Amino acid sequence: MATIVVGVTGGVAAFKAPIVVRECQRAGHDVYVAATRASLDFVGRSTWEGITSRPVAVDIAGEGRAEHVELARVADLIIVVPATAHSLARLAAGFADDMVSLTVLASDAPVVVAPAMHSNMWLAPATQANVKTLRERGVHVIDPASGALGSGDSGVGRLPEPEEIARVALELLDSHNQSLQALAGRTVVVTAGGTREPIDPVRFLGNQSSGRQGLAIASAAARAGASVRVIAANIESALLEALPTGVQVTRVGSALQMREALIDQVADADALVMTAAVADFRPEATSESKMKKDPSTEDAPTIRLVRNPDILAEVAHGDQRPPLVVGFAAETGTDEEILAYGADKAARKGADFICLNRVGESVGFGDVPNDIRLLDASGHIAGRYVGSKDEVAAGLVGHMASFLDNLKR
Ligand code: C5P
Repeated sequence: MATIVVGVTGGVAAFKAPIVVRECQRAGHDVYVAATRASLDFVGRSTWEGITSRPVAVDIAGEGRAEHVELARVADLIIVVPATAHSLARLAAGFADDMVSLTVLASDAPVVVAPAMHSNMWLAPATQANVKTLRERGVHVIDPASGALGSGDSGVGRLPEPEEIARVALELLDSHNQSLQALAGRTVVVTAGGTREPIDPVRFLGNQSSGRQGLAIASAAARAGASVRVIAANIESALLEALPTGVQVTRVGSALQMREALIDQVADADALVMTAAVADFRPEATSESKMKKDPSTEDAPTIRLVRNPDILAEVAHGDQRPPLVVGFAAETGTDEEILAYGADKAARKGADFICLNRVGESVGFGDVPNDIRLLDASGHIAGRYVGSKDEVAAGLVGHMASFLDNLKR
């Protein structure tokens, strides 16, 4: 039995929140309700108190409230339903002056948010930016459904069925519980981002990798109890700052710097996850000053490239190899083609697994969902993870934990 906090904010869809509470109770969990003041105009105190047989938390400081963060502390899962546009903004900004946002802010439990609002508000750039921020922090935001809206209009913004919200939330609780401490006592090194190979002081050869998938894996491993070291190549500072406390970050620029940092850090590790997009080639020489065009001719310079070391293959075939090595391969093409590339890479690189990452329009790079097939060293599919980068990370970390546990036996 888990303790679930259902946070209710002030939208017309609040009338469906009692069904979410009931579904959680039916699954055997203990439910507390936190409500914003505005939400009580839609569903009142007596409804909540009748359903949960306990007071509804509305006031931050009030009689009988031992401590304002007590709900945050006892929560194993928080479900915000419905989440208005206003409350999404408050959650994204880290407000703490109502019981719902305070509880989310102060808790380290998984959070599921089910927005409901008029389409124009849902699609507004401000709301979309808030949702993106929340997702980057690992909050599970359930996309609203399309259909009739409270205003009488029709479009996207409707609260999904409350039974479905409860199902998604309870599934998340399950997978969170499974991953808890599964990597306790392990050290995991994750490389992330994309290397930049300098041409001159202002130019480089680079790639599109944002580092998000690698950071999601690092966060999931840390949440599973591992001690995590991230070697970050050119990742936005804001993404690195959102990593769980305790994750050690080494920033690098080029492939050669990444190799040096990795060799230094991988020796005592239990696992290496090499998500970084490492440039295969670098300019043979880096000009010390900015390269100038010669206005008297149409000639363009020729940049000679040389091969970078294959860091993954070197570590996987070397003396300092951790017991578990996972590589990534971003491929485009048909299913058949990418599986063949992946199998070939799995064999060549010497990794235990290759995460075959299909990239292309709206999948793979940046802030988009991912579709990863896990190939073992002989090219067989050992798992498939589709979803947000956090969901993919949780699946992979679960697999890594069982692989390491099996090695022990
Ligand atoms: O051969 P390809 O670049 O597709 O292989 C991808 C995998 O190899 C990734 O895990 C990447 O981090 C790693 N890699 C590497 N050193 C390179 C190129 C790729 O470690 N020079």
